[in-house]
Amino acid sequence: MNEINNYTATTLYGLEKVLYDELTQIGASSIEIGNRCVYFSGDKTVLYKSNMNLRTALKVLKTERVFNANNEKILYHQASKIKWDNIFNVHNTFSVSSTVNSKFFNHNKYTSLVVKDAIVDQFKKFHNNRPSVDIKSPDYNINLHITNKQCSISINSSGQSLHKRGYRLNQFKAPINEVLAAGIILLSGWDKKVSFIDPMCGSGTFLIEAAMIATNKAPNLKRKSFGFKKWKNFDISLYEKIKQDLKKEEKQYDKNIYGFDIAASSVAISRNNCQNSGLEKIIKVDGANFFKSQNHNNCFLMFNPPYGRRISYRPDYYKEIGDVLKHNYQNSTAWIISSEINELKKIGLRPSRKIKLFNGQLECRLIKFDMYPGSSSSKLLSE
Ligand SMILES: C[S@@+](CC[C@H](N)C(=O)[O-])C[C@H]1O[C@@H](n2cnc3c(N)ncnc32)[C@H](O)[C@@H]1O
Repeated sequence: MNEINNYTATTLYGLEKVLYDELTQIGASSIEIGNRCVYFSGDKTVLYKSNMNLRTALKVLKTERVFNANNEKILYHQASKIKWDNIFNVHNTFSVSSTVNSKFFNHNKYTSLVVKDAIVDQFKKFHNNRPSVDIKSPDYNINLHITNKQCSISINSSGQSLHKRGYRLNQFKAPINEVLAAGIILLSGWDKKVSFIDPMCGSGTFLIEAAMIATNKAPNLKRKSFGFKKWKNFDISLYEKIKQDLKKEEKQYDKNIYGFDIAASSVAISRNNCQNSGLEKIIKVDGANFFKSQNHNNCFLMFNPPYGRRISYRPDYYKEIGDVLKHNYQNSTAWIISSEINELKKIGLRPSRKIKLFNGQLECRLIKFDMYPGSSSSKLLSE
């Protein structure tokens, strides 16, 4: 039976439109943008694809019930209206996690407990037995989301966050989240025709995400664990077929993606992560100091330079980045993300785009600079 269900794919601030476009491409329907999430509908094929194929989703949640509640009693009553034994049985394990932003409820743990009690009480009533709670690796992770009075209860089909692709076994200082890196590349509209360079590649996240995009490789094809694989309606033959189909859609990429870093340990870690991703043939990583760059022409740069909280840098650092871009990367485009919003202004080139994003809790700007041939025609901020 090709049952259609409603889902929510969660994402990071600023990536909602990119995720919307990705969902269109995998055949989802009724797609609607929310706050750090996108709602959609689809069958099991769409559900499995959304977990394996979406680059900018963190989790895909299957909606069970949407309701209003302004106290624990109503929350318990509404949670009890879900027929839990249609979803799982007493032999399964479960956990409840809550995200609460409400003046009516002020304790995540308490709201989780209310829903857990509603589930346990219902099983005891009808089955005289109850499923056990497993916080670490439950068969069913129930998700309660509350914004003021608006509540929704859903089941997490992804399990661990989808940014955990499995290739980043080691990491250098301050790595960027994989979902954020992929989202930035998709936001940039990189056309794959010019060389992609990350001159401060750290653990190689931009390089690997760019290589996966260039080869049309599904980001979580190799991942073994997904929440939906423990569900009682898991269709293993459909899942295997989708995996094979996604594999067939992979393409060759005849260019290289280049990563550099001043730190030898970062070069070693990046190379290792590239190998884990299986894309080491098209990604070249070497040690180099960005401030000693040779003259380059017609490149596409993307990087997140050191920022205060996690890696220290000297006072003129961002100004010097601007000087190198102006003099050594003519006829090129650079996308830079940093939480150092004032420092970014010191780059001294006029941005052609500015996008607000968050790296964890840190508010950032993703800025695009276009360097034109001949330093006199570069758009300097002072012009
Ligand atoms: C914020 S981290 C980049 C994180 C990276 N995007 C990732 O996902 O892991 C900044 C990186 O810049 C490197 N770096 C700092 N100064 C550099 C320079 N002058 N030339 C090249 N790399 C530099 C650091 O070694 C560090 O790996």
